[in-house]
Amino acid sequence: MFIGDVVGSLGRKTITEYLPKLKKEYAPQVTIANGENAAGGKGITEKIYKKFLQEGIDVITLGNHAWDNRDIFEFISEAKRMIRPANFPEQAPGKGIVFVKVNDIELAVINLQGRSFMTDIDDPFKKADELVKIAAKRTKYIFVDFHAETTSEKQAMAWFLDGRVSAVVGTHTHVQTNDARVLPRGTAYLTDVGMTGPYDAILGMKKDPIIEKFITALPKRFEVVEQGRNILSACLVEIDPRSCTAKSIEPIVINEDRPFLA
Ligand SMILES: [Fe+2]
Repeated sequence: MFIGDVVGSLGRKTITEYLPKLKKEYAPQVTIANGENAAGGKGITEKIYKKFLQEGIDVITLGNHAWDNRDIFEFISEAKRMIRPANFPEQAPGKGIVFVKVNDIELAVINLQGRSFMTDIDDPFKKADELVKIAAKRTKYIFVDFHAETTSEKQAMAWFLDGRVSAVVGTHTHVQTNDARVLPRGTAYLTDVGMTGPYDAILGMKKDPIIEKFITALPKRFEVVEQGRNILSACLVEIDPRSCTAKSIEPIVINEDRPFLA
């Protein structure tokens, strides 16, 4: 199971509220969540990282907001279950791949970041190729979180890796896309998983300053919504143990308009 970008305290509360229910219903063997917006919409702290692990998240992935909360520099080297985009320049602390053991099987989780309309970092395709080759020496189960802005770059990554990894899911744009599918060679794909946190917001942030910014083109301070209705966005990937390819990918959205198991 993969949970899309957890935004701020409301996102964290949403995890506390729904993760036990989701686990009971779907019994996922591994739970991964993108946590790059978990601390007030910007970055992650050690306390939040530890709480996520306690609540049953096995791997936390990051993205362009990885360094926004400076607390990360204090704990990233010891945070074994947290990965940041692997194609960050090599001087960056942390790592972009992690292996998780589930019973006797290993799952490799890789985090990458796109370059279209984003910071011009190292080539995510080249890095994906390199890491998939490394991971494949240990396991056939490989999961990729591609944190990217454009649908085209995310689709390109999925087709590039089709048949070589079990799943490619997109994060970053905070709105779940309606295109979950298994590609012909067996890679599960969803362009964007969507976000977890404030529902009556713009990508998790307070609406008014953003609307004003669009109207006036003046600089505005964006603040995360801390209270109110919430949304959880996730997806469930089932991997065939014989072929190691994906059998299915099921999108999950929970909010007041789409209540859990209604
Ligand atoms: Fe992001």
